[in-house]
Amino acid sequence: MNTIWCPELAARSGPRYRAIAAAIAEAIEDGRLAPGERLPTHRALAEALGVTVGTVTRGYAEAERQGLVRARVGSGTYVRGGEADPPEFAIAGDEAASSLIPMGLSLPAPIAREGLLAQALREIAGDRAALADALGYHPEAGIARHREMLAGWLREAWGVPVAADSLLLSLGGMHGVYLALQALLRPGETLASEALTYPGLIAAARQLGLRHVGLAMDDEGLIPEALEAACRQQGVRAVYCMPNQNNPTTAVMSEARRQALLTVARREGVTVIEDDVHLVAANERPPNLLELDPERVVYVTGCSKVLAGGLRVGMVHAPAALLARLAEVLRSHCWMAPPLNAEVACRWIGSGVADELAAAQRDELGGRQALAAEKLAGSGARGQPYGFNLWLPLPEPWRASAFVRRCEAEGLLLRSAEPFTVGSLPAPQAVRLSLSAPASREAVTRGLDIVRRVLAEAPPVQALV
Ligand SMILES: Cc1ncc(COP(=O)(O)O)c(C=O)c1O
Repeated sequence: MNTIWCPELAARSGPRYRAIAAAIAEAIEDGRLAPGERLPTHRALAEALGVTVGTVTRGYAEAERQGLVRARVGSGTYVRGGEADPPEFAIAGDEAASSLIPMGLSLPAPIAREGLLAQALREIAGDRAALADALGYHPEAGIARHREMLAGWLREAWGVPVAADSLLLSLGGMHGVYLALQALLRPGETLASEALTYPGLIAAARQLGLRHVGLAMDDEGLIPEALEAACRQQGVRAVYCMPNQNNPTTAVMSEARRQALLTVARREGVTVIEDDVHLVAANERPPNLLELDPERVVYVTGCSKVLAGGLRVGMVHAPAALLARLAEVLRSHCWMAPPLNAEVACRWIGSGVADELAAAQRDELGGRQALAAEKLAGSGARGQPYGFNLWLPLPEPWRASAFVRRCEAEGLLLRSAEPFTVGSLPAPQAVRLSLSAPASREAVTRGLDIVRRVLAEAPPVQALV
């Protein structure tokens, strides 16, 4: 990554934006900028050159028009050639360190957890049995007392009726989704999901060589009739969905919608993968699909969004007939999830820390959603009262890629609908803002102000021949 490159413009005549593009061309020519290198952010270069951010944006656009560089939405501007494009579905190492307000990733709210981890590790260090468990091999589903503790937490804190002996521990929710897909589908078979879905699902389906069908959605997420049609035309084996809050659209399925989906799934012999990694308390949502039809549903959740993503503690709950197949797949990946990580999660659950973290996060997300409702009133932005994200369909004639780029030039990172869109379906002109990720409410406020400002602008016009 190049954050140091800074062109000399003094000797160049003509408009400043053209001078920037010419300097980029020259630096590529003489090797000061290498293929795949990232250019400085618009803001950083504007400050270094003493020009406006708009001038740098135009300069980069000109360089892109000349085929010198490539702008990647939410990631930056890169010299063309060399390395493959940075992936859409990845946590860029420099994203956290960047000066942009990070509304691109749906992370747990920034609540200090280091002291809590230190405390749990101290306790484990003094417990010889726990240390021995952490060092040993165990059955692939995980240590029985961990599964019981985690199942108890899902039942009591979240109202999810799971049984410990139907639960396998995975390396996080993403891995749980991957296990479910690999256990249920063979390469070439068809997976259905909401047309706008979690990019991790899209990546996993591709890795596994699945056919992936994106289903029509409305304000309640997946439309059951679309699933029925896909089953009849394309022989769907499994359907993945997020009934408690679609990522990215934040749509929640009503109970009637859930029942209708399960009716189609039963009739067509399709297994449902219910992704519930964001966990919503039972009194704030309709019953989970798992509650409505436990024999039809593989339920995936985990500790990442409430406790900590780095723990990589995920859970898969499945009907008895699927448990052996899931265990076989898990064994072939990693034998078992590391018991030390589950031990930390279980200590936090046992001491009440997990519930405190969940309550603190709920408060913080509630405050941020209220702030967004106020700042973006009338914009059509949609979020749930304690949700992580906000979904913003853009007004005509904004295109999402241009909107994201303008926000980035102003110092805000967010995501267009593109990485969430299945296959070659058209992506709506909409963006997802993660309210959970910024370090403070003050940063959230600044981010929302940028969105409001950019929404009020006229989109840039592309003049091409
Ligand atoms: C809908 C959904 N499923 C799964 C995951 C992955 O969860 P984990 O971090 O536990 O792997 C995410 C992460 O953002 C997600 O949004």
